[in-house]
Amino acid sequence: MKKRNVLIDCDPGVDDVMALLLALANRDRLNILGVTTVSGNQTLAKVTKNLRKLWTFLKLEIPAACGAAKPLIKDPLHGGEIHGVSGMDGWEFPAPVFQLESDNGIVFLKEKIMEAEGRVTLIPTGPLTNIGLLFSVFPETKERIEMISLMGGSIFSGNRTPFAEFNIYADPEAAKIVFDSGVPITMSGLEVTNKAAINDEEIKELMSSEGSVSRMAGSLLQSYTNFHRRKGLTTYPLHDVVSVMYLLNPEMFKGEDYRVEIDTSIGIYRGRTAADTGELMRHEPPNAHVLMDVDRDEFMGVFFEALKRLDESVNSE
Ligand code: BDR
Ligand code: CA
Repeated sequence: MKKRNVLIDCDPGVDDVMALLLALANRDRLNILGVTTVSGNQTLAKVTKNLRKLWTFLKLEIPAACGAAKPLIKDPLHGGEIHGVSGMDGWEFPAPVFQLESDNGIVFLKEKIMEAEGRVTLIPTGPLTNIGLLFSVFPETKERIEMISLMGGSIFSGNRTPFAEFNIYADPEAAKIVFDSGVPITMSGLEVTNKAAINDEEIKELMSSEGSVSRMAGSLLQSYTNFHRRKGLTTYPLHDVVSVMYLLNPEMFKGEDYRVEIDTSIGIYRGRTAADTGELMRHEPPNAHVLMDVDRDEFMGVFFEALKRLDESVNSE
């Protein structure tokens, strides 16, 4: 099977780490050209350090760069209450020795896209600032992109405001550039990502695993449960993992094609990914395939298998 070229743009972030792990375990199918970081779950400095720590822990050499330290217009918004003070609380990582290839993530993305053999798939799992900047500064990259599989948005209700999901709310102006770009988008919004939720028993299983990657994943997830428990939840969405899982197992999902408009107004609807689901006034063609449902058990089975494969590859070194 032909390998898909991918670039992952993230803000690690506990669920970003899980998404990276799923991608890393599937390098026979995903050719990871590089990873960029963006201000989101924590400051750019913190999420970049987190990526360097993870790469050091896993002894990886996949090139990485840091991108935007703030959204296009507004002040940065972080999610420390969910992901912790470091943005990746719950596990003692080694001191980061992995070095970034570049501190200009936008030029890094452009170069990787233009130099790639064949077209590239983008996987953004944080606010869309880097991708918005990329399309604005280097519009020639758009035709080299096969598709974007992103985590962000929600059709019916938000998690940061009543109407907006965190990644889109953090930088709606950038999201608008991306959704209006004409590049095919698969949107993994809250309708599907809330269904891709792990439970306490599964987290316990990871934590008691022999393998260090599974134990690390379980410990981060255990710390991630604190916020959700306070909200009265007993299962914990692996939001960002969905955007990677879709590329590996699209048949696991159900979705709809919608015209998704990003609300950039200042007020209660800011950051909303509004879709005309009833076709009441649709006059433009769809711009996104919006995932709405997933086979949760199959999803979790594939995720656990991926962690096991990483455990084995780390042990065999
Ligand atoms: C998104 O916000 C972040 O907290 C997560 O990493 C995910 O990308 C979910 O709304
Ligand atoms: Ca994220």
